[in-house]
Amino acid sequence: MKIGILISGRGSNMAAIIEAVQRGEIADSEVALVVSDKPAAAGLARSRAKGVETLVIERRGRSREEHDAEIISELKKRDVDLICLAGYMRLLSASFIRAFPNKVINIHPSLLPAYPGLNTHERVLAAGERSSGCTVHYVDEELDHGPVILQKEVPVLPGDSPETLAARILQQEHWLYVEAIKLLETERNKK
Ligand code: GAR
Repeated sequence: MKIGILISGRGSNMAAIIEAVQRGEIADSEVALVVSDKPAAAGLARSRAKGVETLVIERRGRSREEHDAEIISELKKRDVDLICLAGYMRLLSASFIRAFPNKVINIHPSLLPAYPGLNTHERVLAAGERSSGCTVHYVDEELDHGPVILQKEVPVLPGDSPETLAARILQQEHWLYVEAIKLLETERNKK
């Protein structure tokens, strides 16, 4: 598979995917392109350091469709056949989803459909949940929404802050994202 990764920030999930590909754990795959919509994203330096082609494509006042069209064109040029959103904090347009049917996946730090959107861990703690987790899912036009591929439950511990809970879940995110891509690759190889 040729994988494209979209980021907006730190890029730790992106790094986990690139490392799994580079050590051969995700076999027969390459990360063909990383795109950030934010020039200041820390993940940019990480992807470049790992030798992956990396572009910044800012929205710059354009419509969502125009911004997405530029990203779609760069991904298509490189024949990307799986797009992983990894902390990409924008809603994709319908045209993006249509351009890559069943090929766009996302990770979110909750057990979806519970707690989509921002400030996930704050809301989980405020609700007194005993557990939370992370989800890898196909992307549709709604925020943090679409068919679930894999989920991992993570306990909420007494005394957790949003930061401690986020860190515990993030560790599992890195593992879960790689597992989900391996699953998709196995399914594609069967076809
Ligand atoms: C991750 O926790 C990811 O699940 C979350 O943003 C973080 C990005 O971290 N995504 C969302 O909340 C999507 N709604 P990273 O840049 O270090 O991978």
